[in-house]
Amino acid sequence: MYNSKIIGLGKYLPENVVTNADLEKIMDTSDAWIQERTGIKERRHILKGSDDTTYYMGVKASKIAIERAGISPQEIDLILFATLSPDYYFPGSGVLVQEALEIPNCPAMDIRMQCSGFVYAVATADQFIKTGMYKNVLVIGSEYHSGGLDMTSRGRNISVIFGDGAGAVLMTREKSKKKGILNSQLHSEGKYAQELSLIGPNTRRWVPEIMEENNPDDISYFPHMNGQFVFKNAVVRFSEVIMAGLKKAGWRPQEIDILIPHQANLRISQFVQKKFGLADKQVYNNIQRYGNTTAASIPIALTEAWEEGKVKKGSKVILAAFGSGFTWGSITIQW
Ligand code: ACO
Repeated sequence: MYNSKIIGLGKYLPENVVTNADLEKIMDTSDAWIQERTGIKERRHILKGSDDTTYYMGVKASKIAIERAGISPQEIDLILFATLSPDYYFPGSGVLVQEALEIPNCPAMDIRMQCSGFVYAVATADQFIKTGMYKNVLVIGSEYHSGGLDMTSRGRNISVIFGDGAGAVLMTREKSKKKGILNSQLHSEGKYAQELSLIGPNTRRWVPEIMEENNPDDISYFPHMNGQFVFKNAVVRFSEVIMAGLKKAGWRPQEIDILIPHQANLRISQFVQKKFGLADKQVYNNIQRYGNTTAASIPIALTEAWEEGKVKKGSKVILAAFGSGFTWGSITIQW
């Protein structure tokens, strides 16, 4: 039995910056409203006609992570691809990464757990590495939201929040039981599946039926979010899984070097920070610059924190997420 650890990190953000002022021009919103409610100042949107897609951003982030890990793509034994915006309905985006990185017949699995996708993927990689089945696992979180948002005033409660981007990590074996991923906790509560969802088309209402209805008011193909309900559940579940990870590791909140919460909303992160009595330097936030990139938000933030020297050998790191499903989870890492 091994532990697992992260040895390479990478991120990719499309160049095109969309500020709150840009959104003011196309919908009834304001910089003040967006900043006050979410903390977001700007986000990245893939420009129409660009080569970037969900898998391709994942490939770009992965190449950096693989190079920093000091291995060749051919040494990767498994790809886990977390996204809620896969390139195709099927197949998943992981196989497209396998092809692009030219890894012969490597298994590739998509993880469809929305905002918690990266946490679920790291926990899954950890299990495959612990059993000895695989040695090197590439874990990707990537999202292409902008093309699927209602960018009119009708969709403003959601479309101002989300952005595009990708992050990736390379995980491998760690011999010491006291280092690497120390514990993970994963949860779901399907009774709230529709509170944050995109339900059309679905298997009870396929595309031909939707076309037959020919209803111009049908917006079921845009995401739906019960914002205040999500907020209330998120702050509770974030706190629970962080506490569970701390307890299992035997750490006190003051000992955390960096908490990297899923970048859902700055207000949610601040609520959690206050609850645990954490200092500003103990919590990493970059939602101000990228918006909510769902499954990509934690690997992007983790990569930035590592690049800034805030995650280094000996660091006590916690990743925590909550999102559609509802799903939530955390990972406790002794770096
Ligand atoms: N610009 C201006 N006004 C807006 C906008 C906007 N973009 N969006 C909504 N409004 C208006 C509403 O129409 C409403 O107007 P009314 O009072 O005239 O009816 C008013 O603002 C208040 O709307 P609420 O939805 O009650 O606003 P709230 O204070 O709840 O803030 C928000 C909305 C930011 C979504 C909040 O509920 C929230 O933070 N929820 C958490 C959900 C979240 O963070 N989701 C992220 C994705 S999920 C995840 O990653 C876990």
